[in-house]
Amino acid sequence: MTGRIYNFSSGPAVLPEPVLRRAQAAIWDLDGTGIGVLEHSHRGPAFTAVLDRAEALVREVGGVPASHAVLFLPGGASTQFFQVPMNFLGGGTADYCCTGVWSQKAIAEARRFGAVHVACSSEVTDFDHIPPPSEHRWSAAPAYVHVTSNNTIYGTQWTREPEVPPGVPLVCDASSDLFSRPIAIDRYDLVYAGAQKNLGPAGVTLVIARKDFLERGARDLPTMLSYRTHVAERSMYNTPSTFGIYVIGEVMAWILEQGGLTAMAARNQAKARVLYDFLDDSRLFHGTARADSRSLMNVTFRCRDTSLEPAVIAQATARGLDGLKGHRSVGGMRASIYNAFPPAGVDALVDFLREFERAHA
Ligand SMILES: Cc1ncc(COP(=O)(O)O)c(C=O)c1O
Repeated sequence: MTGRIYNFSSGPAVLPEPVLRRAQAAIWDLDGTGIGVLEHSHRGPAFTAVLDRAEALVREVGGVPASHAVLFLPGGASTQFFQVPMNFLGGGTADYCCTGVWSQKAIAEARRFGAVHVACSSEVTDFDHIPPPSEHRWSAAPAYVHVTSNNTIYGTQWTREPEVPPGVPLVCDASSDLFSRPIAIDRYDLVYAGAQKNLGPAGVTLVIARKDFLERGARDLPTMLSYRTHVAERSMYNTPSTFGIYVIGEVMAWILEQGGLTAMAARNQAKARVLYDFLDDSRLFHGTARADSRSLMNVTFRCRDTSLEPAVIAQATARGLDGLKGHRSVGGMRASIYNAFPPAGVDALVDFLREFERAHA
């Protein structure tokens, strides 16, 4: 960790140190080719090997079956907000579970292409929880159901997939928790995630989707916005984010070295427990998400006396605990502790918060 500090940023976020070391070397010379990964043609054999490896490792890590395509797309998760309805809504109705700002943005984009039925929402309680199944109200024949599996801003997370009506496609924005725990990919028709939290650098979006679902997408779309293009061209219709794909491959290899998604989940649960246990016992701090909906990725918390919060953030930053300021729309503090965030950093945060509490309680 020489010269590096603990980075609690919500994204772009901390990456595994061995991955950064390998990437450093590959920027200079990819696999003994004498050319760095940033400089290789995306059509050449060296990058083709990188792409093959990244796809194979995504499949291995996620248990992605042959029925599903693995795509590396541009435009961030925000492009998926409109690419999904553009392909699959076609003037019909889609059901959205509204669990935060990112869901709201997805809903706003979908409304450009058809009707949106909000099947459940936690907006009235400031998105402090995931609505339970008893509150899910599906429309008569939705084109698909869309959920946001982890709400990066509010620190809430679905514990399992919603029970959607039989035959209705399930679409998920998993930007901030994909591959942080085992995932039953075959339950989903399309899952997307901007890479910059658990998967790699900003600039590439991982899309895993059932091929026969993608085949049903609208026909008269701009070439880049049709999923079929990217399936047919293996994410190589245009020049993809070659470096992003390379790093995703390395992150996948790192996940496997750690023991795969079961090990990731255990590690993430242990880290989050340390922080939530502290918050539950604290007289100065409190978590903002309801206990049954707490995210293992983004732990959101506040001071009972909110005027102390700027001091918490400033003193933490001075101690090498960076990126704790909550999202500008909600304030407070947020510790993003994705896969690569080290357990020692969570311990360091709790030590600091405990000290701060002693000084101010
Ligand atoms: C859950 C979620 N969805 C979507 C986005 C937007 O992603 P992008 O910036 O890649 O468009 C974010 C970004 O933080 C997010 O957390």
